[in-house]
Amino acid sequence: MRIEGKEYRTIWYEDNVVKIIDQTKLPHKFVIKELKTVKDAINAIKVMEVRGAPLIGGTAAYGMALAVKENNDPEFIKKSSKELIQSRPTAINLKWAVDRMMKKLSGINSDQILDITLKEAKEICNEDEKFCENIGINGLKIIEEIYNKKKDTVNILTHCNAGWLATINWGTATSPIYHAHKKGIPVHVWVDETRPRNQGANLTSYELNEEEIPNTIIADNTGGILMQRGEVDMCIVGTDRTLSNGDVCNKIGTYLKALAAHDNNIPFYVALPSSTIDWDIKDSKNIPIEERNSEELSHVEGIDENNEIKKVLIYPSKSKAMNLAFDITPAKYVTGLITEKGISEASSESLKKLFNK
Ligand code: MRU
Repeated sequence: MRIEGKEYRTIWYEDNVVKIIDQTKLPHKFVIKELKTVKDAINAIKVMEVRGAPLIGGTAAYGMALAVKENNDPEFIKKSSKELIQSRPTAINLKWAVDRMMKKLSGINSDQILDITLKEAKEICNEDEKFCENIGINGLKIIEEIYNKKKDTVNILTHCNAGWLATINWGTATSPIYHAHKKGIPVHVWVDETRPRNQGANLTSYELNEEEIPNTIIADNTGGILMQRGEVDMCIVGTDRTLSNGDVCNKIGTYLKALAAHDNNIPFYVALPSSTIDWDIKDSKNIPIEERNSEELSHVEGIDENNEIKKVLIYPSKSKAMNLAFDITPAKYVTGLITEKGISEASSESLKKLFNK
């Protein structure tokens, strides 16, 4: 998608290094960063220079290639794979990508090992881009249906950033929106600010602006009254891990939006590539929920009059804070799962049928 009119993907390999857009600097500064070692990749995931389930999967895949490039010793590669998986626990795409890379590497010790791993990392990213494009094509039908009934702007609420910046391209939740916009359907997006890190305000609104899609940032608690007033036609969110029973783990606050949508009879969709489905865990209580540094709550970052990014304390200095990053939306509140293969009910029968499991 575009930034200042130029097409980008979120991660690519060029001049023997991995390149990423440093998302900790957006929307104020556009900085391309180089990752040269597996440690660089682990750090980029941990400090959220890259974030969003599909993109951290893609970064982990390239991280494995960087590990091979650095030291082609099986012990080093194994240790690196473990460290990559542990760098952020909730999004399943990370483990999915590392496992796929390890499988590709097993039994290979030829001179071509680096080329093979780089090719596989690129393949994982290309596949994600294609899947996200298909999510858009499938989700477009829902937006079209609403538009054909309403004959007026379709108002869509989204939470966090499940846009192209969270994937390789297109995004998950935003892909149907981009497709609708390209088709000339008038859409407007209510963008949840998404405290504490403000991925909605900093990233979703930014990327929608760059594609000239009308959007309005709202405080995280505003969605409920907008739904009661009839100003939300549908919700679409992304997910970090969806269980085969349809329970959805996503950015903290998603569950409350789903409850409000349920109470107001508003369709609540979750968009995801199949790499985000956890076919193993059966009970959502067993999903590891990341607890992040409470500084993300007590401090906010912005740009000052000298164009410098600054962080300031906003809480009483003696107050304690707790920062759970994700929550679970039970399947019963999910209208449907928009995947690369089609739209599934949030149930094991429907998901298994769609993915031939
Ligand atoms: O903590 P983040 O910014 O990595 O959280 C991202 C989200 O919760 C997204 O909604 C999710 O990963 C889906 S991304 C297409």
